[in-house]
This record gives sequence, structure tokens and C-alpha cells, in this order.
Amino acid sequence: MAKVYNIGVLTSGGDAPGMNAAIRAVVRKGIFNRLRVFGINHGYNGLIHKDVREMNVGSVADIIHRGGTILRTARSDEMRTLEGQQAAIQTLLEYEIDALVVIGGDGSFRGAQTLTAQGVKVIGIPGTIDNDIPGTELTIGFDTAVNTVVDVVSKIRDTATSHERTFIIEVMGRDCGSIALQAGLASGAESILVPEIEFKLDDVVLKLKKGFARGKNHSIILVSEGVGSGYDIGKEISKATGFDTKVTVLGHLQRGGSPSAQDAVLASAMGGKAVDLLLEGKTDMMTACKNQRVIGVPLEHAYGPKKGLDMELYKLAGELSI
Ligand code: F6P
Repeated sequence: MAKVYNIGVLTSGGDAPGMNAAIRAVVRKGIFNRLRVFGINHGYNGLIHKDVREMNVGSVADIIHRGGTILRTARSDEMRTLEGQQAAIQTLLEYEIDALVVIGGDGSFRGAQTLTAQGVKVIGIPGTIDNDIPGTELTIGFDTAVNTVVDVVSKIRDTATSHERTFIIEVMGRDCGSIALQAGLASGAESILVPEIEFKLDDVVLKLKKGFARGKNHSIILVSEGVGSGYDIGKEISKATGFDTKVTVLGHLQRGGSPSAQDAVLASAMGGKAVDLLLEGKTDMMTACKNQRVIGVPLEHAYGPKKGLDMELYKLAGELSI
């Protein structure tokens, strides 16, 4: 098995709180094991355009608690082209980087796949607030994003109660309703609308009216962006109920902020595991959380069937918000 001496690390796709903690773990664990570690800026774009710097222990000081990514990130169109992939490989050869750690979501892992197909050793670390990567129970950033939403919902609930209003809160999650579901359950939302389950406006309206009939005059409805615009849904609800309805779109604030302790621990464990896997000569793998342990699984697990929503939790949320 070919030994690994120099490794590269990059972050790609949407940033997620805890990415810095993962970078720190890769750099420090690598240096601890006498590897040279190179940070690649701006995701695959930096790999293509040779935006590379050698990292030392101090390069990752004071970042474990910071949101965002010190390596910056990008969604790279160039990496989808053959020229881009060839340029990326050229950079790896020039810097004598034997292996790459890619921190990102499924799009980032597809970029990784084009490199492994050409013999580059790659380990993926799942980092996205969406928690939509198959093969791992958790992705870095999800817990923080859920906590952020819960915090915001509790603030909105104060004004919703005072003014006796219905609030539609739109959260992130293009194809995946996990943020809406977990934050909705944790904050006692009256309805949770997710892309995995077709929603019926009549059901939402009926629930609101039933609540109103027994004296409840404020409501919180969490909507995943994948369901549609919170504003459109708000208009329809307002029209059907006549209730004073307000809409808040949380947007990118869900991607910022310090990682929760759980995310910082997960990110550190995944960063360390990625280096372990490379030292063991492994490639084409992803770090994954299974039964609260971080393990390595084949990278192709990330392209497996969609994760699917936790239907038990979804059902429970419905039962608790009668
Ligand atoms: O994949 C993470 C995510 O935050 C999604 O929830 C969201 O739909 C998307 O990224 C937004 O991407 P961008 O920041 O490129 O607009």
C-alpha cells in the first residue's frame, strides 16, 4: 500500500458551522502523524487555480469555535469540466499532494469521485446543514442550524403570542425537511411542512381553525424552502382563515454562527478519522456517524438512496401539536 506523506484539505459547497473544527482536526492530526498538510482555498476552484498553502499548527489556532470556513468555499462549475479536473490533478502533482480530504455535501463528493476515478486518494467529510447525505446519521452543521432555528422560533413566538398572529417561518432545506422537522418538534410548531410529504392546505387551515375555536390565537408554521415560498403559503393561509399572518424567511442566518458543542465534537472526530483512514491506506471513503460513533464507510454510500425523513418523529410532531 502506497504511503501518504502530503495531504490536502478543502471545503466545498454551502458552508456549515463546524467546518473550521474539521479543518483544524485534519491539520493537527496530520501534523501529529508527521504528514505535511496543505490547505486549498475556495474549494475545487482553488485546486484548479493553485490557491494552495501549507498549514502549520498555528494556521488553525483559534478557529474551533468559529462558523464559516477559513479555507473559504465555492460551488465549482469548472470542476464539472474535463479541463478543470485535469488542472486539479496537475496541482496535486505539483505540490506532491498524495491525498485529499474534502469537507462538503453530496455535490462536493461528486467532484471527489472524478478525482478518485483518476487515482487520487480521497476521503470525504460530510458537512452541510441539511443533514441530507445518505450513509451518515449526522452531517456537520445540522445540529447548530437546528439550534439556531429553535432560538429564532422562540423569539418569534413571543411576538406571535402578544399580537395573536399566525407566523410562517421558512427554513432551509431544498430537498430535505430535516431542519424543519427537528426544529419544529423542538419548538412546538403547530404545523411542519416538508418537501418529502405533500402538504394539503386544507389540513393546515383546519388545524388552525380548530385551535382558534378552543381559544388558541397564535400559531407557528415551519416550512422547508423545498415546499415553496413561505410568502405564497402565508398568503393562501391568510386568505383561507382571515387570520393576521406574517412571514419570516430565515435564509442564510441558519448557516452562520459558532458550532454547537455537538457539531464541534462531531467535526473534530470526523477530521481525525479522515486522517486515520488515509494513514491506513484507505481511499474513496467518507467519515460517517453511526450509532453515535464516527466510522469510515465507502464514499458511494453518499450517493445511495435518499435518506428519507424520520417518519416516526414527523408523526409524533403531528400528535403533539393537536
Ligand atoms: O445545502 C445547504 C443549503 O444551505 C441549502 O439548505 C440551501 O438550499 C442552499 O444551501 C442555499 O445555497 P446558496 O447559499 O448557494 O444559495
